[in-house]
Amino acid sequence: MNILILGSGGREHALTWAVKQNPKCDRLIVAPGNAGIAQIAECASLDIEDGGAVATFAQENAIDFVIIGPEAPLAKGVADRLRDAGLLVFGPSEGAARLEASKSFTKEICDAAQAPTAGYGHFTDAEAAKAHIRKNGAPIVVKADGLAAGKGVIVAMQEQEALDAIDDMFDGAFGGAGAEVVIEEFMEGEEASLFVLVDGQEVLSIGTAQDHKRVGEGDTGPNTGGMGAYSPAPVLSAEIEQKAMDEIVKPTMAEMVKRGVPFQGILYAGLMIKDGQPRLVEYNVRFGDPECQVLMMRLGAQALDLMQAAAEGRLADAKVNWANDHAITVVMAANGYPGSYKKGTVIGNLQAQPEDSSNMVFHAGTKAEDGKVLATGGRVLNVTARGDSLKEARDRAYAMVENIDWPDGFYRGDIGWRALD
Ligand code: AMP
Ligand code: GLY
Repeated sequence: MNILILGSGGREHALTWAVKQNPKCDRLIVAPGNAGIAQIAECASLDIEDGGAVATFAQENAIDFVIIGPEAPLAKGVADRLRDAGLLVFGPSEGAARLEASKSFTKEICDAAQAPTAGYGHFTDAEAAKAHIRKNGAPIVVKADGLAAGKGVIVAMQEQEALDAIDDMFDGAFGGAGAEVVIEEFMEGEEASLFVLVDGQEVLSIGTAQDHKRVGEGDTGPNTGGMGAYSPAPVLSAEIEQKAMDEIVKPTMAEMVKRGVPFQGILYAGLMIKDGQPRLVEYNVRFGDPECQVLMMRLGAQALDLMQAAAEGRLADAKVNWANDHAITVVMAANGYPGSYKKGTVIGNLQAQPEDSSNMVFHAGTKAEDGKVLATGGRVLNVTARGDSLKEARDRAYAMVENIDWPDGFYRGDIGWRALD
């Protein structure tokens, strides 16, 4: 089977690493890829948001299966263009990708499916939005409706902060994403994520994880794309996971079918858990980054069979072979991230790190130049390990982190603390 993976982050390095272990995989191309991916697969430069260009490339290279990593091409209908061209694709249609691309759409689906989530109002007028905030008071959550690269959510602890967020969003701080806002009830609890494969009709859970969104230890400082993750997330016990499947995932997926936009791909449900009850914070229509890194480390080669089963509508017969294991990933980021940071700094001693089925340094933002690996992004490396216990995995991941020679980078030393305490 010839496979094309779209994307260039740590998520795509982890997908590439898992897919490549499957004997079914013949040729493996990643577009555009990064320095780590280039060590294990062919990389091709391609505009992955141009569905026509991707379809032509896939046909010219006799690709049998395309796996789409990030949300942007999904929201632009790249999966639809590829399916129109007769290709087998893992990833939702543009219509189904609205579960991530439009917060108000997701709220509407939850209403129709009676799925537990935060109460909300949807506004296209700034004054009406402000009146809603004044009426409900803080804490309250203001969200730009569209994709805003993770920056469109303001959790306001003071009323004024929420009112200012409305001014910012209607003044265009988030581009087109702010012309509509969703204002939500603030939910208390512990957050965790559930990852579910969906083939249009059937659903199959492939694991739980917990991210660390804040830049600083003890969950302090500004939000980031995620500074580390581990799987499984003990807060999502088997019982709560089952509740989330029965009350949230299954009814919303059935509602998508009813509306003629069945979802196919990986559904990432961000959940808030309080007193044993999960409520939906948000849906994403792709793997989390860095959550994918820990999921792939646990699933290994079977990840390809499972994604293929989802793409071919065969999930009813698929099952996950679980090991009783734990995985953790520690993000190494450029000093200054999530603010401004230097690019092009040299990372040393990567070749000395172990690489096997339980230890792997996934690259997020790197490039190779003159035999050196250079940092090119904010989040740069995902140092990932697997063990019989979370503690064992954590100790091995941090041993690798400490062996990487990168004075221009930093990491959080407390990844996994909620589960380890
Ligand atoms: P989202 O992009 O919708 O996931 O929001 C980003 C983050 O904001 C979430 O991971 C939560 O930590 C927080 N958040 C979003 N909505 C709510 C809510 N209704 N109540 C409390 N926290 C929220
Ligand atoms: N790690 C959070 C996300 O991928 O959205």
